[in-house]
Amino acid sequence: MNLYKEVSKSIISKLKEIPELKDIISTEFLNNITVEIPKVRDFGDFSTNIAMMLTKKLGKKPRDIADILTPYLQQISNVESVSVAGPGFINIKLKDSYIKDTALSDNLEPDTGIKQKIDLDYGGYNVGKNLHIGHLRTTVVGDTFNRIAKFLGHTTKAYNHMGDWGRPMGLIIAWVLENGMPNNVDDVNRMYPASSARAKEDPAWLEKAQKITVELQNGNEEYKKIYDTFIPMSLGQVSKLLTRLNILPFDENKGERLIAEYVPEVQEILDTKGIIEHSDGAEIISVKQDTDTEPMPPVMWKSSAGAQTYAAADLTAIYYREKTDNPDAIVYFTDNRQTLHFKQIFRAARLAGFADGIELQHIGFGTITGADGKPFKTRDGNVPSLDEMINIVADSVRTRVKESGKDLPDETIEMIALAALKFNDLMHDVKSDYIFDVDSVTSFEGRTGPYILYTAVRLNSILKKVGNIPASANCELLPEERDLLMFLLDFNRVTETAFEKRAPYILANYAYDLCKLINTFYHTCPIMRDDIPEDIKAQRLAIVKQSLKVLSQSIELMGLKIPEEM
Ligand code: ARG
Repeated sequence: MNLYKEVSKSIISKLKEIPELKDIISTEFLNNITVEIPKVRDFGDFSTNIAMMLTKKLGKKPRDIADILTPYLQQISNVESVSVAGPGFINIKLKDSYIKDTALSDNLEPDTGIKQKIDLDYGGYNVGKNLHIGHLRTTVVGDTFNRIAKFLGHTTKAYNHMGDWGRPMGLIIAWVLENGMPNNVDDVNRMYPASSARAKEDPAWLEKAQKITVELQNGNEEYKKIYDTFIPMSLGQVSKLLTRLNILPFDENKGERLIAEYVPEVQEILDTKGIIEHSDGAEIISVKQDTDTEPMPPVMWKSSAGAQTYAAADLTAIYYREKTDNPDAIVYFTDNRQTLHFKQIFRAARLAGFADGIELQHIGFGTITGADGKPFKTRDGNVPSLDEMINIVADSVRTRVKESGKDLPDETIEMIALAALKFNDLMHDVKSDYIFDVDSVTSFEGRTGPYILYTAVRLNSILKKVGNIPASANCELLPEERDLLMFLLDFNRVTETAFEKRAPYILANYAYDLCKLINTFYHTCPIMRDDIPEDIKAQRLAIVKQSLKVLSQSIELMGLKIPEEM
């Protein structure tokens, strides 16, 4: 349940009953009242600035208004006390018994509000290139966002917009024609950079690759045969890694190639609307607006060589998604070097009359850097593949575990390593760059994935030791218990905010703060000690159980797994 919403609702409906306000304020005004969760909860669980908002309307000082409102708010059921602070903030404290009962019986069911249909676009891997560090954020954040949306009852469709139909294909095929077929994916991944390097030095080679690309796109059978040989190799590698990363399967791997089928339809619409311009043999769509203060180049619809472009695939994908899914929104997760690209595409889509009533949204990421602030590289100066990244983190975890005198199975090391890598990615606001430091992400202390898993493992082991949990008794709450219960009750609000703001980092940081409160509770409120009376023990075990429920759910939403032991 969303306690925050419940409390806001009760405050608003109580205000509606107050005679002094009746003729003065509209329902709309009341619905806009904000209720806040104070950082320091010493004075109350919730606070509102309603008294300040009413000063003009009532012609009174906020404190005097607060004094009028307080006795009414006091009548709200489950309210323990109402107090006024500072210039007129009203603080509301809930009854302990209510908090306990609600928190301990919360099944985390999301609200039955309006459910949306959302197309998600993340991953977008490229054939001929192994997944590398640059794919970490789109994959991990996209996947977690998908999980959060599904958890809240929204319908999602996750698209992996594969880069599998552009110039890199021509470059690989040109290489194969000269050097023979690849035997495995490593061969494929070597071909693309080699051919691409040659194209930089040798204009004839580049031209050849371009020609092959266009011919492949136009159905050349010889090229298609080669293409069909290396495609499964690349896709196999992608899918193996996604499994390793515990990423939900994509609903559609429809990328540049599969969308090609719809390009002619879109071409016709663009031609009919007269928005295509011809420029040096290329076809472009001008998307500049008078109000632009930054450069806004035209969309390249077709290259001068006649090839389907990156932009054409994205524009056509919007057309296709509207036609097949008609979602409420299409949300793209890529790094922020593509910000301009998506601005252009969204404008072109609107010009073409696509995506009417559909929100088009690009969430752009910052870069993962080394300590020097430059894009992260391995010691030998290479951009690490995602597999290598996981291995680097796993080695660090293994060393730490060994140093602490423990011996954990490889499977567990892998779970911890993935938690370290993924949580570190999730906890940063996507817009900002972050420094990747393997030692700090694998620490078992602080804001890290291992710390979060460790907390869950600890709760699990307490519950396993007790076996059956006795029925919870009604004992007084210590502040640490109360704080924890209040925080547990914040879970649904947090997931809803993370969804609305497209910001999984809100959930990740909630999980960390939750662990901190759990550990404070654990250290100040002993459970299994002999001198703890049975009823208190029962109550604390119930708190442990509910904490584990909320923590496990958060961990699952982040796509992490809890090991048996740590
Ligand atoms: N393949 C692209 C790249 O590596 C990313 C695709 C992002 N998604 C999209 N719809 N364009 O740069």
